[in-house]
Amino acid sequence: MIGIFDSGLGGLTVARAIMATLPGYDIVYFGDTARTPYGSKSRETVSRYAIENTHFLMENGAKIVVIACNSASSVATKQLTGKFTIPLFEVITPAAELSVSVSTKTRIGVIGTRATINSGIYEEKIKKINPAAKVYSAACPLLVPLVEEGWLKKPETRMIIKKYLIPLKARQIDTLILGCTHYPLLKDDIQRKIGKKVSVIDSSLAVAANVKAYLDQHPETDASLSRSGKADFFVSDITDHFEKIANSVLKQKISLNHILL
Ligand code: DGL
Repeated sequence: MIGIFDSGLGGLTVARAIMATLPGYDIVYFGDTARTPYGSKSRETVSRYAIENTHFLMENGAKIVVIACNSASSVATKQLTGKFTIPLFEVITPAAELSVSVSTKTRIGVIGTRATINSGIYEEKIKKINPAAKVYSAACPLLVPLVEEGWLKKPETRMIIKKYLIPLKARQIDTLILGCTHYPLLKDDIQRKIGKKVSVIDSSLAVAANVKAYLDQHPETDASLSRSGKADFFVSDITDHFEKIANSVLKQKISLNHILL
């Protein structure tokens, strides 16, 4: 199975992209809804949670694990790769690579949670690929709660998006990375506010393409993944609201299994 975890339900955007890119592959998803958000927690805490989540997914059949959370990818990838021997995928590198390849003026904007933006990881990865790149980042802490509240199409949300994007617009970025699992759900409005000439990079699509490329190059890992079209969804806390969000992200009715870590 392909294991996927996130701090909550935003990572379902990554599950959705993986299911579309690798149809038929079995997936097991864990959303840490009891301990979300990760974006405002310390590096130590997020790393501890990420290790527990990876153990849980492996116990439930995962042979590879996708860290679908930008905040966990930013601060916990090193610890995870030091601890686990199975292939691990994070969401930062594929989005950084894609941004450099599509950017025409290498003026790249990044939006994400405070944990992701404060880690400086996107800037580090982008500059490693192209040291001349100009990277402008903005933490957008209000967007995650707005998405979780289901306020995807509210004028208030559009206004807040606009406010967050003004400084990046002033920098004349030509590419914008959506550095948070929740932001693909606001992609249309973000695109509208930043302008149609700016390429908006959805890290969920970038990581799905990266997993596929890896499996194409590693047939032994590919062969170890079961393919019966099964998808198991686990969460550490459950409410009716979560089920509604999950169904709307995946555009299908799914059942969330409640587990205690
Ligand atoms: N999943 C997180 C991320 O991609 C957003 C939610 C949170 O702060 O936990 O950064």
